[in-house]
Amino acid sequence: LLGSLISKINPNLIRCVSSSNTSTNAKKVAVLGASGGIGQPLSLLLKLSPLISELSLYDIQHTKGVGADLSHIETRAKVKAYVGKEELANALKGMDLVVIPAGIPRKPGMTRDDLFNTNATIVADLVTACAKNCPRAIIAIIANPVNSTVVIASEILKAHNVYDEKRIVGVTTLDVVRAATFVAENKGLDPTKVNIPIIGGHSGNTIIPLLSQASPPVTFSQQDLDSLTNRIQNGGTEVVNAKAGAGSATLSMAHAGARFSFSVLEALNGKEGVVECGYIASKGDFSYFATPLLFGRNGVEKSMGFGKLTDYEKTLVEKAKKELNGNIEAGLTFAKQYL
Ligand code: NAI
Repeated sequence: LLGSLISKINPNLIRCVSSSNTSTNAKKVAVLGASGGIGQPLSLLLKLSPLISELSLYDIQHTKGVGADLSHIETRAKVKAYVGKEELANALKGMDLVVIPAGIPRKPGMTRDDLFNTNATIVADLVTACAKNCPRAIIAIIANPVNSTVVIASEILKAHNVYDEKRIVGVTTLDVVRAATFVAENKGLDPTKVNIPIIGGHSGNTIIPLLSQASPPVTFSQQDLDSLTNRIQNGGTEVVNAKAGAGSATLSMAHAGARFSFSVLEALNGKEGVVECGYIASKGDFSYFATPLLFGRNGVEKSMGFGKLTDYEKTLVEKAKKELNGNIEAGLTFAKQYL
């Protein structure tokens, strides 16, 4: 019943409730920041999935209530709630996937960089605990500024000698979700069938949608290309302004975070050909860069690269350079003084 209900709501989630042979492979997932605007609906979506045997909820507040509430849902995942620093280690032990939406969100007028001072320390503390308690877990970072927090997390894992570039990813799925929605609206397509690769990073100009590689193939006027690119890059600000001080995207982000998590878990269970975009360490012109990633039994198998860019897209990469490199540098500088 639950499966048929959810499949009516969103075909992208059918796979999380319908795969019948996953029970023996069900994985343990922790959400850090589970009581927040993203954390609660994300935890709800994860609780609905038979891909998960144990759902570990951690926050510095309110987790016991969120956990009690979710634990009454008639699905397989066993919910455990942990609150406060003393309980963090137990929240992490044995986890296969750790998703981190902990940290403050934007208010109108703020950039993601304005969150740096607070969120850098939160992510650094949480990833230090991951290094000590679940060093083999895949870590998915939602906390902004993603362009820097992933760098900080990576440096911390390196310092603890547990760094594996296949296992630490910045979640950029919301950009992909928005791009599919906006392009589908523009072209009168079914949004669940549209895929637009997004490369670069996860803030303003660093979000680079490859509209020339849209699937199904579509063409745009220069005006539509400009306005769609601009809307995809600033979709987050659209929500921040509409919420008028009450935070940033939470519900669409919960969906995006769940979609990303289900993909990772399916790949860990051996499903082949699982691709999601994500922000990872890179050997190209940038030391960190988002591309479509192929996931496998150990996390990221490889970056799928970004194929041939149009001149327009090359200009977007050029425009992203300064900001993205600055964000990476800021992450490295913070990590040095934190460690
Ligand atoms: P929120 O303020 O509603 O929730 C954050 C939660 O983190 C709170 O429950 C808080 O108690 C908790 N928290 C704070 N310090 C913590 C710590 N040391 N350990 C564990 N938990 C801690 O914020 P919201 O809206 O859920 O956003 C969370 C983060 O996600 C923000 O940084 C936001 O910018 C980011 N975000 C990222 C997106 C992406 O596409 N990657 C999209 C939207 C938001």
